[in-house]
Formats: sequence, C-alpha cells, structure tokens
Amino acid sequence: MLVDMGDMLRHAHAEGYAVGAFDLVSLDFLQAVLAGAENRRAPVILSLAESHYAYFDPELLMPAVRVAAERASVPVAIHLDHGHSLEAAIRGIRQGFNGVMVDASSLPLDENIARTRAVVEMAHGCGVPVEGELGYVAGVEGEDAERHPGELRFTAPEEAERYVRETGVDFLAVSVGTVHGRLRGEPRLDFERLAAIRALISVPLVIHGGTGLSESQFQRLIEQGVAKINYYTALSDAAGAAVRTNAQVPERRSYTDLVKGTQEAIRLEVERCIELWGGAGRADAVRDACRPWREVEHLIVYNTQDASSAEVDAMMTEGRRVLSAIPGVRQVITGTSVKENAAYRHCWLVRFVSPAVIDSYRDHPDHQSFADQRFRPKAADRISIDYRHSVD
Ligand code: 13P
Repeated sequence: MLVDMGDMLRHAHAEGYAVGAFDLVSLDFLQAVLAGAENRRAPVILSLAESHYAYFDPELLMPAVRVAAERASVPVAIHLDHGHSLEAAIRGIRQGFNGVMVDASSLPLDENIARTRAVVEMAHGCGVPVEGELGYVAGVEGEDAERHPGELRFTAPEEAERYVRETGVDFLAVSVGTVHGRLRGEPRLDFERLAAIRALISVPLVIHGGTGLSESQFQRLIEQGVAKINYYTALSDAAGAAVRTNAQVPERRSYTDLVKGTQEAIRLEVERCIELWGGAGRADAVRDACRPWREVEHLIVYNTQDASSAEVDAMMTEGRRVLSAIPGVRQVITGTSVKENAAYRHCWLVRFVSPAVIDSYRDHPDHQSFADQRFRPKAADRISIDYRHSVD
C-alpha cells in the first residue's frame, strides 16, 4: 500500500522510531527490501538515487517499484534520493516518486535555499513532500568512504532554522559526522550539534550514510529526532559477498548461479536495520495514521464545433505535448470515439499523481493558455470530472 510519505515520517517522528530508506539498484533489491519490511511488518521507503541511474533506467525500474509498492502488505513510500535539480524533481514525480529530495548542499546557503524553495513550491503543488540537505555528507554510496568528493561540512543549527523556515522543506537531512559509503571505523558523531538543531526546528530529521554506524549511535540519533535513515552500502556489500561465495564454487558459472542468495543477504540486513530502528510491528498503526497515496484521473469528454478533424487532431497533439509537461501530470491521453454516433466524440484523460494537482494544474499558465486559446473555443459542449484512482 502506497501512503503519503509526510504522514509516514510524522508518525515515526512522533512515536520515536526511524523508517529505513533503502536505495535500490535492481529488481533483486526491490524484492528483498519489500520482503524484509513485510516479514517485520514495518513501514518502508523505497529509495532510488539519481547517482545510481548509471546502473538502471528509471523509466523501466519505476513501473516495477510502483507495482510492488501498491501490492505490498505494509505501508510504502517511494523516494527520489539526491535529486539535483528542479527538472529531476518534476521528472521524478511524473515517474511515480511520492517524496523527493533536493540536494543542493554543495551550493552556498542562499543558492541552496533558492533552489530548494523552487522544488518545494512545485512539489507541494503536487502533494509531494520534500527533503532538503544542509551541510554536506561526503562520500559515495557503495564505495570506500575515503574516496569522497569534497570535505564533510557539519550543519550549523542557526542556518538549519533559517533554511527550513525559508524553504518550507518537510524533512531535513543533517550532517553531524556520518559519511556515505564503507567506513574503516565507527565515525564520531556530534550529538550536541544534533540536539541544538532539534531545539530550533520541528521537522523530522534524516540521516544519510547509515552504513557502519553502531547500534548505540542509531539509538541516540533516533532519540534526537531522526525519523528516516538512508542505507545502501551495507546492502550492496551483503549482496556482493553472496556473489563472491558463489564464484568460489567452480560449477556455479552462470549469471543466475552467481546471484543466487543475493536477495536473501539483502533481506537479512534490511530486517536487522528495521528491528534496530524500531519500525518492526508498526505497519498497521502507520497505515491507520497515513493518507493513502492515490492518483486522480481528470476526464473530459467533448464535442467540437466548426473544426475539421485535422484541426482537432492538431489541437490534441499540441495538448499532449504542452499538458504532459505540467508538474504532477503523469500522462495525457487523447481519444476519438470508435462509434461515429457517440454522444461525445472526443476525450482527454489526464492522469494526475494526486488530488493536489487538480488545483495546481488548473492554475498553471501553460494549462490556462492552452485551454483558453486552443481548446475551449472549439469545445463548448463538454463534461469534466476528476475521478479518484483505484486499481485491482
Ligand atoms: P550508505 O551507503 O553509507 O549507507 O548511505 C546511503 C545514503 O545515504 C543514500 O542517500
């Protein structure tokens, strides 16, 4: 069941546990992470990082992620991890993410605020919550942490207060000593800094670079307001270890022989984290506390006056191009009735990612100019209805 990610993390924040946001790079990860969450009856965030798009095509993996989330027996959110631009966020929401991160943490504070605020304005118009990052968590997921691009920069509490107030972000990723990737020892975390940040802001906090932290570090982070923990390298290494074990058996030569057991290895690590972070057994309470995430079908049936079929076709072609670029629109389908004597000859089916898009789409300048100049003058006879989306 796909649920509102803001509701999910507010529940975790209020109840004092953290939801795991596990980065996926393949169907093996998707199946293993969901199996782990279902075994532990825990809410879970399926996370795809823009930096991992070298390993898979998101246009292909996202439909699978959405189907898996919808049929899961535990509450699920789908999150774009480390999106770097407004365009990436718009594209991601169209693909089905119902939470997005904007990572402008490498920019100076004012530019980070400006870029983040632009993403927040767009995403909130789609009903999608936004995670921002302030300070810089160095390192690269899946690699040795020493190979980090840039120096770790800690989050300054007063800047965090200003950043959250001026951007309107729903969750804040903080830098208090964690790094992405494989660590040599336990990192030193600045819990005093975290307490000072927490005293100034009320949104749920996010920790990146979960791999390599100790049980007591996780516990203290959660006690201090961390409601989402990003985790990847340890899952990838567990899968890698399974492949290495297989590779030592001479008869195991095929791809399917070599990846045997990888899902199991990922699942076990996911279950360990869920248990440790306090999410186990919470699925039903989270489902009750969260709005279901449901798409909306904006349907218009219409007849045209004084227009040739070539003119109607041209108008529909332009509409598909213009309207499908509006944030929160998943797809624009146009149609002409199979029977010539149908009461209404043409239709638009515009798929919105959520009910919030009904208003933001109606008010969007590209929609208004297309509707006023191209569509409405030709189609006075029309019926429009927004349907809540349900699928079996
Ligand atoms: P690790 O790979 O260190 O677990 O970090 C994951 C992460 O923070 C993804 O955003």
